[in-house]
Amino acid sequence: MSIEDKVVVITGASSGIGAATAKVLAEKGAKVVLGARRADRLNELVTAITANGGQAVAQVTDVTDQKQVQALADLAVAKFGRLDVMFNNAGLMPLSELHLLKVAEWERMIDVNIKGVLYGIAAALPIMHQQGGGQIIATDSVAGHFVHPNTAVYAGTKFAVRTIMEGLRQEEGKNHIRAMIVSPGAVETELYSTITDPAVRENTYHNERSYGLKDIDVANAVAYAIDQPENVSINEILLRPTEQPL
Ligand SMILES: NC(=O)c1ccc[n+]([C@@H]2O[C@H](COP(=O)([O-])OP(=O)(O)OC[C@H]3O[C@@H](n4cnc5c(N)ncnc54)[C@H](OP(=O)(O)O)[C@@H]3O)[C@@H](O)[C@H]2O)c1
Repeated sequence: MSIEDKVVVITGASSGIGAATAKVLAEKGAKVVLGARRADRLNELVTAITANGGQAVAQVTDVTDQKQVQALADLAVAKFGRLDVMFNNAGLMPLSELHLLKVAEWERMIDVNIKGVLYGIAAALPIMHQQGGGQIIATDSVAGHFVHPNTAVYAGTKFAVRTIMEGLRQEEGKNHIRAMIVSPGAVETELYSTITDPAVRENTYHNERSYGLKDIDVANAVAYAIDQPENVSINEILLRPTEQPL
């Protein structure tokens, strides 16, 4: 089974990497089930995909609420009969140095970037066990491999996701479930807007706009992994803009 006709749930589908992946997969014939908090953006995307001959549905989903993530996975089964790929992509990146004590932002990153991914795994696994296989993908980051000043908590969440996804891979291969992380460097998306420290925000914005990958570059990497035969499990794609030094 290639991408065509696969049923793919995407969280964080209202902008950036999630939205671009929805478009790329739908163009290749996948049925996409889209979740995020902004209903207007999701509805615009469903309209655009449908106008282009694709199949898409959307449901407002806050990934910090396990019930809502479960409902999104259940929507895939209700509408399209199965769940082939769960793409846990929602995330935020309010970078700052620890001494600024932006504790609410630390908690938010843990809730969305880590617990949101865990809720996606929890929603997908029972369905995939029952249907005899599937694929779970999470958007990690170069920050899941390296930590720098300002990224202690964000990188911590992405290190955690990398660890959780590797554990998932080891446990679920026997059940024909593939696990992969996509780990981009700088990508030109709306993610910088979650940074509240003005200097860090400006620097991140500048880097992303001067040399960042496009969201579609990451979407194409995800599509490549989904398109492999079932016996091939791509476990990580780490991609940086050519000019990104670290
Ligand atoms: N841009 C980069 O440089 C970069 C690099 C490495 C990794 N990443 C990762 O890529 C992923 C996607 O980010 P992006 O770059 O595409 O940025 P983005 O354009 O800001 O997209 C983030 C997405 O996450 C959603 N989201 C945030 N909080 C949510 C919540 N509580 N529940 C559900 N959805 C939520 C947002 O939708 P709503 O606001 O509508 O809910 C949005 O669709 C993130 O995991 C990020 O850490 C990005």
